[in-house]
Amino acid sequence: MSRITIATIKEKKLKNEKSTMLTSYDYSMAAMVDEAGIDMILVGDSVGMVQLGYENTLAVTMDDMVHHTAAVVRGTKNALVVGDMPFLSYHISREEAVRNAGRFIKEGGAQAIKLEGGLERVDFAKAIIDAQIPVMAHIGLTPQSVNQLGGFKVQGKDLDTAKDLIAAAQAYEKAGAFAVVLECVPTMLAKKITESTGIATIGIGAGPYCDGQVLVVNDMLGMFKGHIPKFVKKFANLEPLIKEALLAYKQEVEEGTFPGEEHGFTIKEDVLERLY
Ligand code: KIV
Repeated sequence: MSRITIATIKEKKLKNEKSTMLTSYDYSMAAMVDEAGIDMILVGDSVGMVQLGYENTLAVTMDDMVHHTAAVVRGTKNALVVGDMPFLSYHISREEAVRNAGRFIKEGGAQAIKLEGGLERVDFAKAIIDAQIPVMAHIGLTPQSVNQLGGFKVQGKDLDTAKDLIAAAQAYEKAGAFAVVLECVPTMLAKKITESTGIATIGIGAGPYCDGQVLVVNDMLGMFKGHIPKFVKKFANLEPLIKEALLAYKQEVEEGTFPGEEHGFTIKEDVLERLY
């Protein structure tokens, strides 16, 4: 099987087939997600909260993102890998936006990038697309704007903001983006955006009518101890299982039952005798 491309994602929308996406930040998890046949892997700037322990995503750097993207790419064969542009890596100038987007492709090995923001960010997306780098936009609740938005809240609930989101999705489509993440928008608004644009909508907290879904992998596997948003379904609850295994390891090492003979290596008797 060859890698999924942006053409596959566009085609799936046309055929009314759902696209799947999960985040990953390291080689091992990416390999499992890839083997499960998930279409796209987002190396999200959520790495800042999930893996690096920051309170939000704002401190994440381009170097952090490129480092994690390269590890994810090494773990995958089939999934389309999307690198998430961190805060301030595409805000200052179009040149800087293109240069940073290019790092995901040249150094990280990703096939596409994602950037957050509404109409104010479309020109930057266009510059990146003009440099032949596929772009996934991200509108609605954009966590990098947490200070401006005044918290992590549902977006597009009144007429003006709902219209702004529809306009932003249409503008990204016109600019040539291949998909748009809709985060924390009302279900029926997400449906309207999905029906009124040709761009694939990937929902997170946006209901079932989007063209695809994305979740943070640590949240859906029950491996993250921080705040879990309402829209997350835990498809597994691994945290207690992991903790149980860690406690069993501690106990067995302390009481001397691990390692057992089967975990060790032999040495010839005559060699051993000559050591004493
Ligand atoms: O960084 C991330 O994980 C994201 C998803 C929540 C879409 O942007």
